[in-house]
Amino acid sequence: DKANYRHFMAKEIHEQPEVVGHTLARYIDMASERVMLPVKLPFDFKDVQRISITACGTASYAGYVAKYWFERLARIPVELDVASEFRYREAPLRKGDLAIFISQSGETADTLAALRYAKAEGVHTLSVVNVPTSTIARESETVLQTLAGPEIGVASTKAFTCQLMVLASLAVAAGKARGELSDEDEIKLVHGLVEIPRLMAAALTLEPQIEKLARDISKSKDVLYLGRGTSYPLALEGALKLKEISYIHAEGYAAGELKHGPIALIDENMPVVVIAPHDRVFEKTVSNMQEVAARGGNIILMTDAKGAAEATIESLVTIVLPDMAAAFTPMVYAIPVQLLAYHTAVVMGTDVDQPRNLAKSVTVE
Ligand code: M6R
Repeated sequence: DKANYRHFMAKEIHEQPEVVGHTLARYIDMASERVMLPVKLPFDFKDVQRISITACGTASYAGYVAKYWFERLARIPVELDVASEFRYREAPLRKGDLAIFISQSGETADTLAALRYAKAEGVHTLSVVNVPTSTIARESETVLQTLAGPEIGVASTKAFTCQLMVLASLAVAAGKARGELSDEDEIKLVHGLVEIPRLMAAALTLEPQIEKLARDISKSKDVLYLGRGTSYPLALEGALKLKEISYIHAEGYAAGELKHGPIALIDENMPVVVIAPHDRVFEKTVSNMQEVAARGGNIILMTDAKGAAEATIESLVTIVLPDMAAAFTPMVYAIPVQLLAYHTAVVMGTDVDQPRNLAKSVTVE
């Protein structure tokens, strides 16, 4: 049931404050403002020497964001792979490794094969899945469920942000267990997480502005997405979302990679979407933006009030998001990224919920 929405994707984008809130409530003890996992882990994070994260598509971008979180908050090195590569490259896994798998459906063939490989290697396996009865959930040692509810649109939206919420909570738990985070740090981070649903709701109010921008984007043949830090995987996600539902070619790049190649493509016909909350790498991204502007590129900047005040560049359209804790921006910035893809597809007149050539769940490799 699409409620009053034109497409399931629109409904699912708008459900995010609620379902991310449900997911949060499952992993956080609101009274003490501490992380409280709903299951007891069969390992101690103190003994984990390395994490390997494996997934496909959008789920792999959630994993990529989580890599930054586990490394920064818990100081655990993380390797990230797409499942189709991980399963065949005979990656050596060792005692002390934790293998994490992320999947909305829990039925993705490559992710399942990667999980079976990790089990055969004898390491701890943990999956973040949306469907608790799925094969991946059944075969994993530990299951952390996302409470996104059924996701019908082929383009993943609410499953992604719920995956991020589970992974953020897990990264805080890991940091705490390893003594990298103090009680005070934990409370501060949890505070940041508790704010997310409200901030997501605020981000949804930007829809009319994004709808207008989508009309311009729909005239382009190619779109570039740039981000740094945790905004980099979100740039990858933005590009994937746009291409899968609007069929406009898009690429996501780490902002710092611009001058290593993609800058050659910049002209007035290729919009550049820059995802840059005012965080510790903001200034670096601004200088990349100046390089784009100097070559006549049109920029759409997703930032906050502070970022908007500092980034005084011509040919810039700014989407101003609410101020928030720097650690967890991808959950909130996902909203304008998803809305831009959605409204562009609507302008293009594509089949938003059932894009050509795509299946919701890829159960064959
Ligand atoms: O069910 P899964 O999360 O394992 O699916 C993984 C990918 O197939 C999925 O995220 C795909 O990339 C989506 N179409 C993205 O919107």
